[in-house]
Formats: sequence, structure tokens, C-alpha cells
Amino acid sequence: MKIVAIVGSIRKESFNRKLAEHVKNRYQDKFELEILDLKPLPFYNQDLENEPNEAVDSFKAKVKAADAVLWLTPEYNGTVPGVLVNAIDWMSRVDKVLVGKPSWIMGASMGQLGTVKAQLHLRDILFAMGVSSPLLPGNEVYVGAAHEKFDAEGKLIHEPTVQFLDTVVANFLTWMNRYHQ
Ligand code: FNR
Repeated sequence: MKIVAIVGSIRKESFNRKLAEHVKNRYQDKFELEILDLKPLPFYNQDLENEPNEAVDSFKAKVKAADAVLWLTPEYNGTVPGVLVNAIDWMSRVDKVLVGKPSWIMGASMGQLGTVKAQLHLRDILFAMGVSSPLLPGNEVYVGAAHEKFDAEGKLIHEPTVQFLDTVVANFLTWMNRYHQ
């Protein structure tokens, strides 16, 4: 199984990226996870959507070829960061690569609520665009106080979160096998 991770933060020390790396490494015997880079994507511009540049083309091709998308969103000002929305805007037009693509969502923030609002908004965006991107039900992953849960090397060291993710991943795999083979 091939999954792409779309991380809504492009900073080097992103906790959401570290969370994606944890999922990639810990479950490498269960699926292949490729963490996509949002940095090369230009601002979405409707004038360019039929002739997008190479960065957009290759980003969309990777999403299209994947069996599922793992979204990892920070929370900026109570909502989804602009870089993530920008990627969604590209994917929602012309070749609509999210149509029918199974999605699951996680998020990490330094606040206690761990991206609750951003994830609610992300679900609403995925629903509102009518992409029919089926979403893993339940299994909501809110990693609050993220700065206390990763060590200096970027390793997830909060054991309850590690264990909870094991359960979520098992549930995700069951859901994929049952509905999205
Ligand atoms: C934040 N942060 C933040 N946190 C939160 O829980 N709720 C929020 O509304 C916001 N708003 C916000 C706005 C902006 C512009 C920034 C830069 C930050 C803090 C945020 O959770 C923290 O910076 C995370 O570390 C961002 O995720 P990454 O980059 O570590 O993945």
C-alpha cells in the first residue's frame, strides 16, 4: 500500500512533519509513506490551472497514484494553514486527484487542543469541494502540547501517543481493507 502524507507546514522543525516521519518509520512494514513537499508549489492561479508548472504536475501525479492521503495539519489562527489550502486548491481543479481517494487526518500543535478547529475545517473543506474523498471515521488524532512530546532529535517520545497511533493505524488498515481495496 502506498500512502502520501500532505503536511501543512513547510518549516524545517515542523512537529507535523515529525509526526509524519514517525508514522513513516514505525509502520514501514505495513505501508509505504511518502511525505510530499509543499514548498515548490506556486500560489494557485486560475489563469495557470490548465498549464501548471512541473511542481504542480508532479505533486498531483503522486497523489493520483497513491492509495490514500494522510493529512497532517497544524492550526494557524484557528484554522488550516494557507499552504495546505493552496495545495487543496490545485488538487480540486482540472485533474481532480482527490476524487475517491481515501483520506485520514492527524494534527499537532503547541496548544492543548491539538488542531481541533483546523481538523474540523479541513473535514469541511474536503466535504465542501465535493471531491468525495472518503474519510476514516473516528480515530481523531490531536497531538496537543507537541513541543513536550518530541525530543531534540525529533523523535516522538510520548508513549500514550505512540500507543494510540498504533490503534489508529490498525483501524485505518482495517478500514482500507474493508472498503478501499
Ligand atoms: C500558530 N499556532 C497555533 N496553535 C494553535 O493551537 N492554535 C492556533 O490557532 C495557532 N495559531 C498560530 C498561527 C500562526 C501564524 C503560527 C505561526 C502558529 C502555534 C502552532 O501550533 C505551532 O507553531 C506549531 O508548531 C505549528 O505546526 P508545525 O509547523 O510545528 O508543524
